Amino acid sequence: MWWFLLLGALLVAVSADPIIYFQEQFEDGDDWQKRWIESKNKSDLGKFQLSSGKLFGDPEKDKGLQTSQDGKFYAISAKFEPFSNEGQTLVIQYTVQHEQGIDCGGGYVKLFPADMNQEQLSSESQYYIMFGPDICGTIHEKVHIIFNYKGENRLIKKNITCKHDELTHLYTLIVRPNNTYEVKIDNENVENGTLENDWNFLPPRKIKDPNATKPLDWDEREQIEDPSETKPEDWDETEYIPDPESHIPIDWDSTMDGEWEPPMIPNPKYKGIWKPHIIDNPNFQGEWIQPEIDNPDYVPDTNLYRYYNIGIIGLDLWQVKSGTIFDNFLITNNETFAEKIGNETWGITKDPEMKMKEKLDAEKEAKEAQEIKEGKAPKWKGLLKDIEKMGKIKKDGKAERPKIEQESKPVEKATENITQPEAETKEETNTAAKDEL
Ligand SMILES: *[C@@H]1O[C@H](CO)[C@@H](O)[C@H](O)[C@H]1NC(C)=O
Ligand SMILES: *[C@@H]1O[C@H](CO)[C@@H](O)[C@H](O)[C@H]1NC(C)=O
Ligand SMILES: *[C@@H]1O[C@H](CO)[C@@H](O)[C@H](O)[C@H]1NC(C)=O
Ligand SMILES: *[C@@H]1O[C@H](CO)[C@@H](O)[C@H](O)[C@H]1NC(C)=O
Ligand SMILES: *[C@@H]1O[C@H](CO)[C@@H](O)[C@H](O)[C@H]1NC(C)=O
Ligand SMILES: *[C@@H]1O[C@H](CO)[C@@H](O)[C@H](O)[C@H]1NC(C)=O
Ligand SMILES: *[C@@H]1O[C@H](CO)[C@@H](O)[C@H](O)[C@H]1NC(C)=O
Ligand SMILES: *[C@@H]1O[C@H](CO)[C@@H](O)[C@H](O)[C@H]1NC(C)=O
Repeated sequence: MWWFLLLGALLVAVSADPIIYFQEQFEDGDDWQKRWIESKNKSDLGKFQLSSGKLFGDPEKDKGLQTSQDGKFYAISAKFEPFSNEGQTLVIQYTVQHEQGIDCGGGYVKLFPADMNQEQLSSESQYYIMFGPDICGTIHEKVHIIFNYKGENRLIKKNITCKHDELTHLYTLIVRPNNTYEVKIDNENVENGTLENDWNFLPPRKIKDPNATKPLDWDEREQIEDPSETKPEDWDETEYIPDPESHIPIDWDSTMDGEWEPPMIPNPKYKGIWKPHIIDNPNFQGEWIQPEIDNPDYVPDTNLYRYYNIGIIGLDLWQVKSGTIFDNFLITNNETFAEKIGNETWGITKDPEMKMKEKLDAEKEAKEAQEIKEGKAPKWKGLLKDIEKMGKIKKDGKAERPKIEQESKPVEKATENITQPEAETKEETNTAAKDEL
């Protein structure tokens, strides 16, 4: 019987129930206001509203927190039972939709220690992990992953490009206790690796040996002059010779005129400067490479992934053009489970949403075509339409937002307001160390 019990124990251990640390799908009307605390740190913070927006797959299921005022800072957060991800996988997942066609603004979430003062939430508040898309123009379209390590915010060294269109996308960060991570967008892997390699948490494992120097006789010359060749005896390197046909003039008076010198002419036997052939150097040793040694300052840390007292998730961002919708938040210890929830939320509404977008686009196009036909629209609108179409054809995707804006107004706003506030651009600054870090 012992093997039976053992098998039973193994099964229990392997198929542990997923732990849901936090889940929010905004499906109970106004009750979210009890769970989400708006910061009072600034008097003019932007308002979040519960909305599925203008573009959705399901008017109820797609309700989420939407930014509703242009050119504002936003700060809101929700608390949950504090936990540590020690020995556990940590999955942070949510959906974000920039249905306004975002020009510049954040779409990321932050995980905070449980003792963070929610009413004082601001870009100064120290977080553990920041994850998600951040867009400014078409140059800056990236997925941030910032970990706080020993009190300092460390940015990922890799470039991960985020989605830049008007549809809802599912963003997932998986951090594993073996110090590996994975990023998924729409349930598809977009990046993975090890925490140690992809962030500057630790000094490098190897360094160049400062005591190693290139040997004096190290031959780095790839090619040399052939040492076996010598200049032939009769090789004439004299370019000019005295003209042999010239004679001293009869009336030359060397006391008056000085010594007579014949005029010089080009030497007909001149062969140029002799040079041996260039051959491959038989002693070529290659470029000398400074050998590497173990870095004495390197100390491994097997707990790069680990945080204690994780207790708050927050949205702390700045947006030029509002309208972004955040939904389907999930924090769990099980990546398969998160994928399943992703399938059951985003996975179900994405296709209807795409259909709606196609319908709205077609309607808009028809209306604009009509206006142009009737001469109601100014000429430049027709031109803009043509450019837009070209953009769409080039990108070969109905869902992709063309780089040219649909209306003239947002373009002006975008260029006017294109600069990011200080707070989010200099993330890699020292912040006060927390004792649990
Ligand atoms: C994750 O959850 C699923 C059930 O949704 C379970 O079958 C699986 O064993 C869990 N995985 C881990 C690593 O706990
Ligand atoms: C906002 O928070 C910062 C630091 O967290 C604090 O110094 C400042 O006094 C707060 N402002 C207000 C208006 O509460
Ligand atoms: C920036 O955007 C806001 C909100 O759309 C607007 O009120 C403001 O005039 C814009 N321009 C500048 C320079 O702030
Ligand atoms: C990431 O992008 C920046 C800016 O374009 C570039 O300078 C840097 O080399 C890129 N890094 C990697 C790892 O590709
Ligand atoms: C880390 O853990 C994951 C999930 O358990 C596993 O698939 C992966 O192979 C591990 N990677 C390393 C480098 O140990
Ligand atoms: C990243 O993913 C690839 C492909 O799935 C896998 O071969 C590799 O081991 C992963 N790397 C890490 C560090 O988990
Ligand atoms: C370099 O050599 C010096 C003197 O022998 C020694 O003290 C030092 O530890 C060496 N440095 C390294 C990095 O090996
Ligand atoms: C999620 O959906 C994809 C596509 O239908 C499927 O391949 C995958 O197995 C699903 N994942 C889970 C955990 O149910």
